[in-house]
Amino acid sequence: MPRPWCFAKCLGLLAALFYPISAATAPGDGLQGTAHDFSGIGNPESGMCTFCHTPHKAASQRLLWNHKLSTNTFSWDLVETGSGTPYPTIQGDTYTGPTAKCLSCHDGSVAVGELVWWNGGPPPAPLLNIRVTGPAQVATSTGGLGNNHPVAMPYPFNNSPSTYNTVSSGVRLDLTAWVPDPTILGIRLYNDDGAGNIRRGAVVGQAGIECSSCHDPHNGPTVEDVQFLLGTTTGICDKCHIK
Ligand code: HEC
Ligand code: HEC
Ligand code: HEC
Ligand code: HEC
Repeated sequence: MPRPWCFAKCLGLLAALFYPISAATAPGDGLQGTAHDFSGIGNPESGMCTFCHTPHKAASQRLLWNHKLSTNTFSWDLVETGSGTPYPTIQGDTYTGPTAKCLSCHDGSVAVGELVWWNGGPPPAPLLNIRVTGPAQVATSTGGLGNNHPVAMPYPFNNSPSTYNTVSSGVRLDLTAWVPDPTILGIRLYNDDGAGNIRRGAVVGQAGIECSSCHDPHNGPTVEDVQFLLGTTTGICDKCHIK
């Protein structure tokens, strides 16, 4: 089904009769043609990275982020998980893990095309003035993450408790119920040095999970299923949980 932001491009494709139409929408085939392909919008037309990254004048050095961040404070309804691990709060415009970047669109509070820098300046109006709604809006527009899988949370990498995003693994956590190193299976873990720096890669005692532990927003080569999943819809949970 064509996305609303695909119209200009799709019309262009129709006009160019001999254009090799090779929409790479299969899992693992890259960004082009996916729900995250916002190229071909505006004048001059945006490229495939602009809606999320910019080489200059970014909103943050980390990820050279170009999408206006949400100012929501994200939280869950419960205080802690069944294992006693406290649910975190995530400040949309300051949290350094990639989850805040996803939520800049997926809480529906900021237009998808509200960019920080484009074509030599801050764009006067959103390049694409639609918001994420429906099933893809995983957080409420006021920051509610209740009833969603935890993120910005510690992972017991190597079957050791972790502290991540100031949250420590709960006292009731069964350390034997976890795949020691899920990164071997294509899952992404992150580490937090305790000074506000969250980086890719697992470190014993400092490991954690983010939205991009389960999804690759670029539909890169390690994606195994639709919805940018780093596993299959039926087989991603057991890449971390031993059940
Ligand atoms: C819909 C938003 C979005 C688009 C479009 C996008 N990215 Fe990203 N990109 C992200 C997010 C979010 C991360 C952080 C992912 C993580 O931590 O695993 C990221 C991370 C990266 C990184 C650093 C880590 C890595 O995965 O290698 C690079 C480099 C990168 N993107 C390049 C690009 C390029 C080049 C394009 C265009 C071809 C692009 N991105 C398009 C959202 C996007
Ligand atoms: C620039 C805005 C933007 C950012 C940033 C962004 N997304 Fe999206 N994403 C969208 C839009 C728009 C859609 C399509 C929504 C729809 O179909 O209703 C989408 C769709 C998706 C889908 C469904 C894909 C499909 O094929 O239906 C997933 C999964 C997803 N995003 C995950 C993420 C994750 C995880 C991140 C961060 C790593 C992220 N997104 C960052 C805008 C964004
Ligand atoms: C523990 C793994 C995991 C984490 C972490 C995770 N997701 Fe997902 N996500 C999934 C799975 C599995 C699906 C497909 C099943 C489904 O449709 O719910 C999915 C589906 C989606 C979809 C498609 C709409 C839908 O609900 O079907 C979007 C959008 C999305 N995720 C965004 C996000 C964002 C944003 C984050 C971080 C706040 C995130 N995900 C964190 C596993 C995860
Ligand atoms: C990237 C690793 C990872 C993946 C993949 C993953 N989880 Fe989790 N899951 C976690 C972590 C970490 C916690 C929090 C553990 C804690 O309580 O400290 C958790 C917690 C949970 C909880 C317990 C919440 C509570 O209140 O105690 C459930 C249920 C759960 N996950 C289900 C799933 C399902 C279903 C899937 C597949 C869609 C999945 N998980 C995929 C890492 C993962």
